[in-house]
Amino acid sequence: MCGIVAYVGSKDAAPILLEGLQRLEYRGYDSAGVVVSNKGLKLRKVKGRVADLAKAVPARFKGTLGIGHTRWATHGVPSDENAHPHLSSDERIAVVHNGIIENADELRARLVAEGVVFVSETDTEVLAHLIARTVTETDTLEEAVRKALKSIVGTYGIAVVDSERPKEIVVARNGSPIVLGLGEKEMFAASDVAALVRYTRQVVHLEDGELAVLTADGFHTFASGGRETAKEPLTVDWDAGHYDTGGYEHYLLKEISEQPESIARTLRGRLDERFHIAHLGGLNMDARETRSFRRVKIIGCGSAYYSGQIGAQLIEELARIPADAEPASEFRYRNPVVDPDTLYVAISQSGETYDTLAAVQELKRKGGRVIGIVNAVGSAIAREVDGGIYLHAGPEVSVASTKAFTSTAIAFALLALHFGRVHDLSPADGRRIVEGLRELPTQIEKILEQGDRIAELAKKYAVHPSMMFVGRVRGYPVAREGAQKLKEISYIHAEAYPASELKHGPLALIGPELPTVAIVPDDELLDKNLTTLGEIRARGGQVLMVGHREPDAKLADDVIVIPKNEIELDPILLTIPLQLLAYHAAVALERDVDKPRNLAKSVTVE
Ligand code: AGP
Repeated sequence: MCGIVAYVGSKDAAPILLEGLQRLEYRGYDSAGVVVSNKGLKLRKVKGRVADLAKAVPARFKGTLGIGHTRWATHGVPSDENAHPHLSSDERIAVVHNGIIENADELRARLVAEGVVFVSETDTEVLAHLIARTVTETDTLEEAVRKALKSIVGTYGIAVVDSERPKEIVVARNGSPIVLGLGEKEMFAASDVAALVRYTRQVVHLEDGELAVLTADGFHTFASGGRETAKEPLTVDWDAGHYDTGGYEHYLLKEISEQPESIARTLRGRLDERFHIAHLGGLNMDARETRSFRRVKIIGCGSAYYSGQIGAQLIEELARIPADAEPASEFRYRNPVVDPDTLYVAISQSGETYDTLAAVQELKRKGGRVIGIVNAVGSAIAREVDGGIYLHAGPEVSVASTKAFTSTAIAFALLALHFGRVHDLSPADGRRIVEGLRELPTQIEKILEQGDRIAELAKKYAVHPSMMFVGRVRGYPVAREGAQKLKEISYIHAEAYPASELKHGPLALIGPELPTVAIVPDDELLDKNLTTLGEIRARGGQVLMVGHREPDAKLADDVIVIPKNEIELDPILLTIPLQLLAYHAAVALERDVDKPRNLAKSVTVE
């Protein structure tokens, strides 16, 4: 949420900052700004997109050190004034900030009483004024920043420049990521490696409480008390090509279309044909420990939570271990009972979602055993957990999650197979699942071939302001994810219900004006699902069915038939047509598909 870029070296900073901000725009996109240092600080910031900022930056905006920001508003509306960077009154200090300063009102009141004039409504401006006050009393910018941060309650990832020290940038993190990028006689920093990979793949992640000083010659990192820390650079696997649209009109369509490969990557090297087991070395858990857990509790937010519901179902079915999923955002606040016999699983594509990270930290404080299912290597959640499964799905740029969702479901299938085979899952059932998993990429390709037809259906249904999604048991999380995708990118209101619950209330809504998308796999609940379709149609409701065979014509207006896999794995395939439906509905309604209003990719605030 919000993007930060910083550069110091011998090149012109502005183009590097603007390019980096473009790569980070998916994190926040209501306003953007840059500062470069060249005999004083030069600032440009605008309400709008990075492209608007690029137009506002004059050709002569020279300086070899600078910081930039793209914003997702928390304190104050999107406006030129509220855009970052924020300057101190004497224009000596500039700050960009991700996160939330919780005691900003109190600090602001104190500064106003001391005569400071604020020009924005943001919490960040407080920090610029605080640093400006301490910088005159300290020998280094680093000390001034550290001193100012002591008065802050809340979360931050920040980059700070001082016009009087035009060769260094200070960055710090507490709850909001900061990654350093190591170049040749140049240094970068950003809130996400996406902004760095065009220039370097050597990175260093800051830990919470750490601060770093960057100069063209390198960097020094310090713990919160001021002690210097030693950091080993990591090499990032992803390069700049992974962040391009690759000829697709939108990142979202690219990411939907990539699923045969992303799933193959999640599976690579993890399936064992001989014993029909999964190799999951990253769990750091031997068979005895694996057997010791009596329950599995899964936490994540949004689509990650829905994929966790698919995961819980897989674990219960294949391993016969009680499992359930809960939104991490709720879990962390309800003082959960942490049970030593429970394995906790945290899911996050970005590895940054603040609520999920806070839930993991709460679990660890209480002695819980937590593993992660994470896409972003080296991210905060990945570093916090005791072990886990990396998705290797590749970067997901579009705000709506698609390939990370299916790869997470795959990771759960592997985990369930692993647990199942140390418990009572037979070799024959193990083989059935291994073979089913192997088949998925080809089956997804077959579904993707139906893109044009699904686009037609999307146009037909997108005229309705509201849609119902229903599914039963394995199909219910699929329905929830389908509704989530549709609402977040097309802004069509969408609700998901267990099909079994319809007649306990929501059936009252059904009529010609409210179509239903029904998830109807060919499983033991087929007849019950078909009965539900009959009930909907009897009330004049239109039905778009997604399943494995054409039903009686009276039961559905339209049907998307997809390939059949094992019943436990079918939810993964059933998700794909719903992604395409949401995508094409959003295109038909001319929405900003990759950057839906009010949302951001990484939710690093509470
Ligand atoms: C997905 O389409 C959403 N944009 C959102 O629900 C997302 O899945 C959620 O914010 C969790 O993100 P994470 O996986 O990066 O933790």
